[in-house]
Amino acid sequence: MNNRKLAVLLSGRGSNFVAIYEAIRRGDLDASICCVISNVADAAGLVRAKEFGLTTICLPSQGIERTEYDRMLAKALRPFAPALVCLAGFMRIVGPELLREYPSRVLNIHPALLPSFPGLHAQRQALQHGAKVSGCTVHIADEGVDTGPIPMQRAVEVLEGDTEESLSARILEQEHEIYWRAVGLMLDKMPGDRREAAGWK
Ligand code: GRF
Repeated sequence: MNNRKLAVLLSGRGSNFVAIYEAIRRGDLDASICCVISNVADAAGLVRAKEFGLTTICLPSQGIERTEYDRMLAKALRPFAPALVCLAGFMRIVGPELLREYPSRVLNIHPALLPSFPGLHAQRQALQHGAKVSGCTVHIADEGVDTGPIPMQRAVEVLEGDTEESLSARILEQEHEIYWRAVGLMLDKMPGDRREAAGWK
């Protein structure tokens, strides 16, 4: 049977996670969320996941070296056998220990049109550069920071007088539109054929 289980990793608000959850609930996305993992114990997204009755795991990362933390994540995820690992505001860089267990199957969302403005404060970077268009990107995570093949993007116009907050809010609306669609696309492409999934490259 086709595996359509999603693991979601988050560190904060969790609005992208909620958007994916809602898309599943509406029947727009054929998938299930097998677990929500957070490195931050009081992350709002983790609280929402509990309210939804989902399996939640808190795996604090403070003071833990990256490779070791990746190993802990991989171990926590293994029993769930997710088809995709969706990073949704997960404020840790995931490395080879995790990525090699899920080749081309770890997705991330970023609030800019990559490869422009990777890293933190992407919306601020766009404003500082005077960009006229920014947006959001779903990409397959690799070992870089906000790099990797791109299954989906959406452009958002930068308006006169935009602040970091106003631009971020309009971009976020689009994030909520594309993440679950990109997840669906990836799940549909994947069955049984790793090369096909990797063919995004
Ligand atoms: C989003 O802007 C996402 O693009 C970035 O982190 C933010 C997470 O927001 N990676 P939320 O926690 O999903 O509300």
